[in-house]
Amino acid sequence: MENNPFAERRARVAAALAARKLDALLVAFSPNLRYLSGFTGSNASLLILPGQSILFTDPRYQIQAAQECTSEECTSEECTSEECTSEECTSEESSCKVRIVKGPLVLDVLATLQKLGALRTGYEPARMTCDFYDALKSRLPLRASLEPVHGWIEELRTIKSEAEIALIRQSVATNSRAFEQTLRRVKAGMKESDLAAELEYRMRRLGAEKPAFETIVATGVRSALPHAQPTHARLAAGDLVVIDMGAFENGYASDMTRMLSVGPPSAKVKRMYRAVLEAQLAGIDAVRPGITAARIDTVTRKVLKGYGLDKAFTHSTGHGLGLEIHEPPRLGKRDLTRLQPGMAITIEPGVYVEGFGGIRIEDTVLVTASGCEILTPTPKDLFVV
Ligand code: GLY
Ligand code: MN
Ligand code: MN
Repeated sequence: MENNPFAERRARVAAALAARKLDALLVAFSPNLRYLSGFTGSNASLLILPGQSILFTDPRYQIQAAQECTSEECTSEECTSEECTSEECTSEESSCKVRIVKGPLVLDVLATLQKLGALRTGYEPARMTCDFYDALKSRLPLRASLEPVHGWIEELRTIKSEAEIALIRQSVATNSRAFEQTLRRVKAGMKESDLAAELEYRMRRLGAEKPAFETIVATGVRSALPHAQPTHARLAAGDLVVIDMGAFENGYASDMTRMLSVGPPSAKVKRMYRAVLEAQLAGIDAVRPGITAARIDTVTRKVLKGYGLDKAFTHSTGHGLGLEIHEPPRLGKRDLTRLQPGMAITIEPGVYVEGFGGIRIEDTVLVTASGCEILTPTPKDLFVV
C-alpha cells in the first residue's frame, strides 16, 4: 500500500468539507469506512473533521481498530467517555483516533460533535439505517443540522490507486485459478450446489476471504435466470451451464462469468454464444477514457440487436467493482459517467430465453490511459464438459 492511503483519503475529504458547507462528515457504511480508515469490523462510525478523524467502535474491536487504523489509540482516561476533547487525544493530526464506546455509538458521536462545535454534519442517507439517523436527529442541539451527502465517497472510490489495482488483479487471478482447478472436476450428473461449493472452496484455498457474492451455477433451462441460486439440479447432457463467480481478497472484488456446455452444443447455442461473445468484445473494445458508461451499454446492445437478441438482454452491461461487488459506475443506459483511467469495471452482456437457457460472458476490466486492460485471464471459450 502507498504511504498511509487512509490518511491521504481523509485529508482529501477534510479539505473539501468547507466547499460543501460542512463542519464534519459522518460515515457509517462499512466499505466507505474501510476506504477511509482501514477498519474492517462490523460496527463503527467515522467522523472526519478538518484536522482530525475519530473512529468510534465497540470493545470487541479495541485491538483490531488500533491495528487497522494505523494510529495510536488515544490513551486519555476520558477518551471513552463523553468528556473526551480533541486536546486530550495525543495521536497526530493525520492519524485516525479510535474511541472505544460501551453502549450505542451514536451517543458518543453526538457528544463529540457538540464538543468540537460541529454544526453542519454531512451524513450518507443511502448508507445509514433509519434507526441511527433518528437517534442522531432527535438528540441534535437546536442550531445543529444533518446534511445529506450523496455518493461523495463512492465517487472517490471509483478511481483506484495503483495499490488497489494490484489487489484487484490478485483477486481476479485467484478467481480464475479457482475456476480452472474446478473445471477439471466438472462432469455430467454433478449438482449445481456441489459445483458452487467446489468453486468457493478452491477460491478460499487460493487466498480469498470469501466469495464476493453468492456463486451462481445454473444448468439447463435454469441458466435463463440471470441471478439463479444453485440448487440440487444436476448437470445433464445437452445443458448450458452458467457459472458466475467472484472472490473478495484483501477486501477487493473480482467478477467473472463463463459458460459450459454438457456435451457438444447445438447450432442454436453456438449462434447465441457467438452473439454474446461478439457483444462482449465490442463492449471491451469501446472502453476508453472519456466515453460514457451508457455508451458502452449501447454498443453491446447494438450487437445483440443484429442477432435479434436485444430483447433477451435484460440487465445492464456492467458495473464498477472494488470494495463492493457492485459500485459506480453502472454501465447502463442512464449512467452518463465518463470512464477514467483507474476505474475497474465489468463487461457482461447476456441473453436469456425462458424455457431454453441463457448465456452471459463477463470479464473484469481496467480502464487505462489508452483504452483498457482485460484483467481476467480465463479464455472465453464455451467449455465443453
Ligand atoms: N453476479 C453479479 C454480477 O455479475 O454482477
Ligand atoms: Mn458476475
Ligand atoms: Mn458482474
